[in-house]
Amino acid sequence: MHEDIQEVLFSEEEIAARVAEIGAQITKDYAGVVEQDGQGIILISVLRGAAIFMADLAREIKLPLEMDYMAISSYGNGAKSSGVVRILKDLSSEVEGRHIIVAEDILDSGLTLTYLMKNLASRNPASIEVATLLRKKTLAQAEIDCKYVGFECPDQFIVGYGLDFAERYRNLPYIGILKPEVY
Ligand code: PRP
Ligand code: MN
Ligand code: MG
Repeated sequence: MHEDIQEVLFSEEEIAARVAEIGAQITKDYAGVVEQDGQGIILISVLRGAAIFMADLAREIKLPLEMDYMAISSYGNGAKSSGVVRILKDLSSEVEGRHIIVAEDILDSGLTLTYLMKNLASRNPASIEVATLLRKKTLAQAEIDCKYVGFECPDQFIVGYGLDFAERYRNLPYIGILKPEVY
């Protein structure tokens, strides 16, 4: 284990098993939709944290799909987000009439997904659902309807499997709690 990690919450094996389950569920749920539509799903992730989850999830969905990416930034550099969001990189594809699944690594305050869902809905997709690997247990969370949730996690500073602290630890293969003395 990395010396900055206090406790492993989800091991590499646990994550892989859960991602496979979510992928299998999506495959089941969308098989008919994709067949009827004649077009695959568009899996969208928000850079950068969700890139690892999305890459693994995509390979567990046994249906035609496209992958696309958006980068957004919250204004201000405080520890807490200001609530104002702007697009740094937009999608490459048109999503009108398409079935979208947003892949996120974690749902915390809900600010990111609130913005994203509103933004994507304005492009008139056929449907939008959210797959989040982690959902933090916190009272201050915006109400977001997530069809696929990997794990509930405690309101602690967690890193790994895409999640960073100051851009570090994203490449840890497991998800763990960061030692308080590190931040
Ligand atoms: C993190 C995480 C989610 C978001 C969740 O991204 O990857 O996208 O925060 O928090 P919220 O529900 O409070 O909005 P971050 O903005 O740190 O950027 P990153 O993905 O590049 O790490
Ligand atoms: Mn993110
Ligand atoms: Mg981050």
